[in-house]
Amino acid sequence: FRYVKYAWRGTYTLAIVGTVWLAYSIYETRFPKEQTEPDPTKKTLVILGSGWGSVALLKKLDTENYNVIVISPRNFFLFTPLLPSCPTGTVEHRSIMEPLRHILRHKKASVKFYEAEATKIDNDRRVVIINDNSDVKGEIHQTEVPFDYLVVGVGAENATFGIPGVRENACFLKEINDAHKIRKKVMDCIETAMFKDQTQEEKERLLHMVVVGGGPTGVEFAAELQDFFEDDLKKWVPGITGDFHVTLVEALPNVLPMFSKTLIEYTEQTFKDEKIDVRTKTMVKNVTDKYIEAEVTKPDGTKEKQIIPYGCLVWATGNAVRNVIRDLMGQLPQQKNSRRGLAVNEYLVVDGTEGVWALGDCSATKYAPTAQVASQQGAFLARLFNTMARTQALETELDHLDELSKEAKGEDQEALEKEIQKKSKAISKVKQLSPFEYSHQGSLAYIGMDKAVADITWFNGNLASGGSLTYLFWRSAYLSMCFSTRNRVLVLMDWLKVKVFGRDVSRE
Ligand code: FAD
Ligand code: NAI
Repeated sequence: FRYVKYAWRGTYTLAIVGTVWLAYSIYETRFPKEQTEPDPTKKTLVILGSGWGSVALLKKLDTENYNVIVISPRNFFLFTPLLPSCPTGTVEHRSIMEPLRHILRHKKASVKFYEAEATKIDNDRRVVIINDNSDVKGEIHQTEVPFDYLVVGVGAENATFGIPGVRENACFLKEINDAHKIRKKVMDCIETAMFKDQTQEEKERLLHMVVVGGGPTGVEFAAELQDFFEDDLKKWVPGITGDFHVTLVEALPNVLPMFSKTLIEYTEQTFKDEKIDVRTKTMVKNVTDKYIEAEVTKPDGTKEKQIIPYGCLVWATGNAVRNVIRDLMGQLPQQKNSRRGLAVNEYLVVDGTEGVWALGDCSATKYAPTAQVASQQGAFLARLFNTMARTQALETELDHLDELSKEAKGEDQEALEKEIQKKSKAISKVKQLSPFEYSHQGSLAYIGMDKAVADITWFNGNLASGGSLTYLFWRSAYLSMCFSTRNRVLVLMDWLKVKVFGRDVSRE
């Protein structure tokens, strides 16, 4: 009885603490404190992008030390790990978007934001040329922003490897609009397949959902789409049951190359059970509006051309360098050997520049282009900028003390000397910022049927696991990683809504 009583009291206390914490978080989000105005004598720090890298930097940056300006064509942060759940409606779009205005309004000193695309970084003139590419344009929609310090976090664009027809016919899965487009296209294919007197051949084509790229984006989306079919579409549109198919096409011999062999095999077996057709060693060479042409490497090493008709094609073959980055690389001879993005040193300073840093997918480092890397780089740069500001402040104080000590005499001078020594020690301590080092926490991916795979770093070792328990871990990990309490609550509500009512099958 005593233990039951303790357990009850513990749960009760936890529930109260949880509720108070939630209420406080909501209050803090809704009612931000007054902000101080930026000091014009301070240096101008321009940050490009509002993704994982830039937002992690903004989160930890003491904005009162600089005049901070953020430039991005997107006025929100997107929690990409849950993006593959959006096209099927498992998670709603707005649940994984956090308005940048919220993030900036919570900083101590105010930050300027321009919704625009940086079209050119002029390293010699130290300006960024920006363009308002939104639908509504004012009289001025192109201008220049000068900078003292610049952080480039513009991410990457979709790789197509110049394969003809991809841009014209395929959907990508990188931005929130891509998720909208896929959702619309899938439902359109289904309703068109059900059109009166539709031929069987055309019905099969329309209901063939092809995903190209067996990296984590392609795998997670294929799994979500098959779940959508099994849980909802089959029930509400029974006519598609025998003809709806999901195919995953991958050029390499297996999917998820960054996971361990056991997890690759587990994923491929799970896909087999789910009836997702996995076509490995199949390299897409051409895309038309109705079919893809692929080159298949057969077990004996010979190649065969295959035509694969499709209704909806999702292209997820990784990253390519953005034009603005390619242009900056062209201005710097030190970048001539870099291919994947801006080459940076161990403090993320762009090679060949002074006062320009790059982070995340637009930089070329030894790490994979992931959110984990970008956000750790952002946090590192915040520490670096805070340290730089602190050093500058201490050095100004030191100069002042030096002046005073020259004029002081006796005990006063001794006291000042002591203070100078203390400040000098503090400066050398603050200056000891070690270079950026990435700490890998592991990789996670959803593979459908309420299963996930995880390669987790565990006490300097590796823990590979897959299945339903891993799925619970996947869910709790992603929930805790969501940007804000608001995002967490919305995602949780979406998951509950899908469990209770199923996914929405209407076309937007
Ligand atoms: P991004 O987050 O892409 O942000 C780039 C920002 O720059 C955006 O705000 C964009 O609007 C802005 N921008 C673009 N062009 C310009 C310009 N010219 N001027 C100014 N601003 C510009 N990684 C993981 O670690 N775990 C995961 O589970 C995971 N899941 C993913 C799922 C999907 C579907 C995708 C597509 C990626 C996923 N990733 C994941 C990878 C991860 O999202 C990226 O590595 C990460 O977003 C990189 O951060 P970033 O800040 O470099 O770029
Ligand atoms: P990716 O680069 O990881 O995988 C792309 C795949 O497409 C490759 O396996 C490649 O062989 C294949 N491919 C390329 N061209 C092809 C062609 N013509 N025909 C057939 N296949 C072709 O790309 P992805 O999945 O978009 O991921 C990008 C980055 O984001 C990666 O670093 C990844 O780790 C990260 N990410 C991480 C996730 C997670 O941890 N859960 C989820 C999504 C992305």
